[in-house]
Amino acid sequence: MDRPAAKSPKRKDDRVILQFDYDCFYASVFENQNPALKSVPLGVRQKGILATCNYVARARGVSKLTQISVAKKACPELVIVDGEDLTPFRDVSKKLYRLLKSHSWNGKVERLGLDEVFMDVTDIVDYNIFFLNRASLSTSFFCLSRNDPEQGFPCDLTHFAGCVEGASSDTVDFDSPLCLRLLLGSHLANYLRMKLENDRGFTSTCGIATNKLLSKLAGNRNKPRNQTTLLSLRDEDVTTFVDGHSLRQVPWIGYKTSKLLHSKLLPDLPPQDPMTPECKLTAGDVRTHPEISAASLEVLLGGPGAEKGIGQRVWSLLHGVDDTEVKPANDIPTQISIEDTYRGLDGIGCITDELRKIARSLLRRMRVDLVIDDESPHKEAVRRWVARPKTLRLSVNAPPTDKEEHHSFSRVSRSAPLPNFVFSLKEDVGELADRLVDEAVLPLLRKFQGGRELTWEVSLLNICVANMVLAGSDDASGSGRDISVMFKTQDDVLRPFRVAPPPEKDKGAESGEVEADDDGWDPEWDGFIDGEPCSQCGYRIPYFALAAHLRYHELGDE
Ligand code: TTP
Ligand code: MG
Repeated sequence: MDRPAAKSPKRKDDRVILQFDYDCFYASVFENQNPALKSVPLGVRQKGILATCNYVARARGVSKLTQISVAKKACPELVIVDGEDLTPFRDVSKKLYRLLKSHSWNGKVERLGLDEVFMDVTDIVDYNIFFLNRASLSTSFFCLSRNDPEQGFPCDLTHFAGCVEGASSDTVDFDSPLCLRLLLGSHLANYLRMKLENDRGFTSTCGIATNKLLSKLAGNRNKPRNQTTLLSLRDEDVTTFVDGHSLRQVPWIGYKTSKLLHSKLLPDLPPQDPMTPECKLTAGDVRTHPEISAASLEVLLGGPGAEKGIGQRVWSLLHGVDDTEVKPANDIPTQISIEDTYRGLDGIGCITDELRKIARSLLRRMRVDLVIDDESPHKEAVRRWVARPKTLRLSVNAPPTDKEEHHSFSRVSRSAPLPNFVFSLKEDVGELADRLVDEAVLPLLRKFQGGRELTWEVSLLNICVANMVLAGSDDASGSGRDISVMFKTQDDVLRPFRVAPPPEKDKGAESGEVEADDDGWDPEWDGFIDGEPCSQCGYRIPYFALAAHLRYHELGDE
């Protein structure tokens, strides 16, 4: 068939991107709290499902995201711990992120969910290539600071660190700048992984490649406690590598896209969930299909609500092309919100109780994310707010309309200034939360119906604080004193955030109360792996979590 529009997109190979993924992350957090757990099969439970399990459990036939009963059958001696409270995972995630970020020169360190981090290390690698001494490769020194030539680590640059995929041979071609960059990237990745392990107790897996997509795919190849460099010297090295992945493994190609491609390319097969491991449609099947091109993908996948240029985007991904930048670190969230969903709250008493719980979680989260211990050399540490949100917003599910066949999943909101008393660090969070609800949130609730009680059943509550103003400045961009720079400096010396107060009920991928901030600290994976509204409750769930989420409904509906 004629394929006029099926031109291969051009790949840029001038960056070095590392993608870190912590091994069995939630389980490792528990193992670090209690090292005795390291040698036993360990599972972390969330709503009747194993959110994850350690590798001892995996060796005994237990998998992530299985029902507890199934996991117990496979491994009766499985030790199960409760992972409903996300606070410890979030706090560890921040510490590990800060360690990685402290090694970045360009600040391009992007967190994805709680356990993945992308780092663009092109500048560090290029600097080291400039000073490379080809006469003594086996006793090289990798420099980690432009200012201090002694800061760094020794390494043997005659070979790659860790595993290599892509090119047929993993011998280093010292005449290829690309090969050299990836070589140095592999040693830096190895150093950082060892640092995470030795300084913080967390093993990880890393992918080293020239873009985010390829680094993520490479990182998945050799797990756990390992790393893989994708040696992308020729275009075929990359296409062969990407082709071998099932479509569902390719990041950014979401559920809907996979489903559409599946029914288009395999119309004769019974409808199969493209996200299940059984689905055999590979990225290569799609890329090499005679009817597939950027243009035909645009026709197939475009339309109302679709991302602009989706055809070209998917076409590029299938070729291992991904020009998206690693986003620079952002320490301060743009907003923080906590929400919960219900089967229907009966009366203002119940609603108020739930609002109090949400307000407590919200204030705790604000204290974790927006308060630092400000230590100066000769003074006692003082806790202070680095940013203060100015706006309070309450959202509830919208009233049902006559036209709707199903529940309405849209929401309505009302806002007001956030009262200043919430910033008191001396008072107890519980008391402040109750006062916030009485004085500010309930008045917002009454606004929905002109001062009267809501006439529709409440199935969603969300309290959000937004409109962050950095301390010492008049606006969020910090026009006065440059607090964001100050904050960065503090961060550079790895000043940890205050340890979180007692457990707050939060949700992981399944359900329950969820932190819904729309910034780099979002516990969900959205913005990278897109999600789809759950057919049962309407919430947008990241694709990787959809199966677990649906199982949660099954369990809840039993
Ligand atoms: P993953 O990186 O997918 O899993 P993992 O770190 O436990 O295991 P691996 O060694 O294979 O990387 O996810 C990170 C954490 O996110 C995981 O520990 C638990 C949590 N999680 C959920 O809560 N729900 C989910 O659906 C998934 C996939 C993960
Ligand atoms: Mg992981």
